[in-house]
Amino acid sequence: MSERTLAIIKPDAVKKNAIGDIIACYEKAGLKPVAIRMMQFSKSTVEGFYAVHRARPFFDSLCAFMVSGPVVVLVLEGDNAIKKNRELMGATDPAKADAGTIRKAHGANIEFNAVHGSDSPETAKFESGYFFPGMDLIGS
Ligand code: CMP
Repeated sequence: MSERTLAIIKPDAVKKNAIGDIIACYEKAGLKPVAIRMMQFSKSTVEGFYAVHRARPFFDSLCAFMVSGPVVVLVLEGDNAIKKNRELMGATDPAKADAGTIRKAHGANIEFNAVHGSDSPETAKFESGYFFPGMDLIGS
């Protein structure tokens, strides 16, 4: 089933000049970018985006990292896009990620982990709509 998911290329990966490599990974896996924004997050933008993690001990540090430089936010479309992107990213902690995954190649640790991807249809809808109002629909 074709669906859409939200991905973020995080500040660490942008600083490492890995934008092109990561978008190539998406495209080779059949995940087609249908919206792309390069932007600098404000504190309130990132706090709203990661609101579900507000009570976690790593929340302040995560937000500080995410405002530390520009990011690339994408909506990706393809068959089983949410699951496929999570497989492509690998485990949250790059040390535990499989070989060939984006986090294995570009992540440094559980916080500086190169990319974000929605983890369910509900979060994909919320996250896509957060950055691309009107794009929170299931892909064609
Ligand atoms: P992401 O997929 O963007 O979703 C939430 C983020 O919080 C996650 O990637 C990590 O960057 C970060 N995160 C999750 N768990 C931890 C942790 N134990 N310590 C620090 N950061 C974490």
